[in-house]
Amino acid sequence: MQGKQWYKDIAVYQIWPRSFCDGNGDGIGDLTGVLSKLDYIKDLGVDAIWFSPLYPSPNADYGYDIADYKDISPDYGTLEQFKTVIDEAHKRGLKIIMDLVINHTSDRHKWFLESKKGDDNPYHDYYFWRKGKKGAKKPPNNWRSVFQGGAWEYDKNLDEYYLHIFAKEQVDLNMDNPKVREEVKSILRFWLDLGVDGFREDVITYISKKEGLPNGFPLPVGTGMEHFTNGPHLREYLEEFRAVLDEYDCFTVGEAPMMTPKTALKFIKEDDKQVLNMMFHFQHMSADNIIHNWMRTPFNPAKLKRVYNRWQTKLYGKAWNALYLENHDQPRIISRYGSEKYRVESGKMLATMYICQSGTPFIYQGQEIGMLNANIEHIEDYVDVSTLNNYQMFKKFHLPEKFIMSLCKYASRDNARTPVQWTAEKNAGFTTADKPWFAVNPNYREINVAAAEADPNSILHYYRKLLRFRKENPIVRYGDFELLKTAAPVFAYRRRYEGKTLLVINSFSANEQDFRAPYDFNMHAADLVLSNYDTAPLVHNGFVMRPYECRVYLK
Ligand code: NOJ
Repeated sequence: MQGKQWYKDIAVYQIWPRSFCDGNGDGIGDLTGVLSKLDYIKDLGVDAIWFSPLYPSPNADYGYDIADYKDISPDYGTLEQFKTVIDEAHKRGLKIIMDLVINHTSDRHKWFLESKKGDDNPYHDYYFWRKGKKGAKKPPNNWRSVFQGGAWEYDKNLDEYYLHIFAKEQVDLNMDNPKVREEVKSILRFWLDLGVDGFREDVITYISKKEGLPNGFPLPVGTGMEHFTNGPHLREYLEEFRAVLDEYDCFTVGEAPMMTPKTALKFIKEDDKQVLNMMFHFQHMSADNIIHNWMRTPFNPAKLKRVYNRWQTKLYGKAWNALYLENHDQPRIISRYGSEKYRVESGKMLATMYICQSGTPFIYQGQEIGMLNANIEHIEDYVDVSTLNNYQMFKKFHLPEKFIMSLCKYASRDNARTPVQWTAEKNAGFTTADKPWFAVNPNYREINVAAAEADPNSILHYYRKLLRFRKENPIVRYGDFELLKTAAPVFAYRRRYEGKTLLVINSFSANEQDFRAPYDFNMHAADLVLSNYDTAPLVHNGFVMRPYECRVYLK
């Protein structure tokens, strides 16, 4: 039965530590920086922080290649300091969510270094080592890496290949080995005992691979994905982990590429078989692309509305949504679904559009001040492994440099990874070092936290208001969802709960749009509780929407 667990009432702020705030002046964000911003985070009106990986890592994929699961990277501080962060956060009523990356380890993790020593090493079976085909000339199967290229790397010494669904420095763990699952349980306990309140589980739906690792559909259609997504033992393994998690008061959100509501319900439906509390699906991030950001299409609001309608209605009363528009993998949302020209209007509209839905909202660092894509001109200035690999792949197809760079500017994950813009001072107040580890977006003089604090009309103040509204009105969390028929670029929905009705109206257009409320909702009798423009009069039971206008009415 669906209950009112605490994780349904919270909003979560995501920190990608390297670019959040540098406290020791070495150009890299760290825990001292985090400590100095806890009050800022609390003031935003969120109730939890999700940390992208803080573990020691060679940074082939900036922390998502873990070299030690039970420590903090010296770049960020010490375990002791992290304990202080937990305590200080808890004092302020903020929960702490760790990133749990167990599909793969770094190729420098001691388990992998051991496993390379020989077939008889006890760690050999922690990973997928296989003989190649045709005298080792060909890999064991045709699977492709999510970051481009084949998913197998050859080791001359062993004369075997190892599997890596992501970068070659991210080696897939063999979760079928019970010892590996015991390691995972011990990692869970380690952090829970330290005081964390939950986990965001990285590509958790990839952890069980089909027995025999068979070939996938041949290219260009496939990557082998059908053999490692929602694999045969996924439920079983998650149940094992759940048993540990159940000993604590914590929650989990699983990252789930290619997920649909129907499949999600098999994992997150609130019955005794539930294994995760919620899932990050990707379907709403494809309104400007086909499947992934590198296959760009014009933004299509109709597609976005269809996806939201499906997730909101299919999960309602059965399971809980995780709501997000940005994270460290996604380019900035205003640059994608909004408008840089109407940055403030569209930033507020996008916030309203997703936070007024049912689910737990996640807000990514810098999103709350309307940070934009970085528009980095030259490939030498990118650092993200998937961008660099995609660039090489497009080069192989002899696509023009200008076209490839336009894709990088739009799709690169580096767009989300520029340092947070705190002030208009040098390096945006992110660091006192001469040079931050990664370039600051040149627009920091206009777009920064200090400027947003000083401007009562800023996106930042709007987020605060919106999150307060969500907290004070159970209808925002628990109401049902009805998509309204509108002009294509207008996304309007109605929610009902305990005799109240909420009407949320959002325009994705730079042109005026007519909106008319349903006949059984009298707008004149409702309160306008949130909006991103000065109030303009209603015309009959509707109004003419200005560029990217949003309004929320409560009755
Ligand atoms: C998803 C993470 O969000 C992303 O940053 C990472 O590259 C992959 N999983 C692999 O860990």
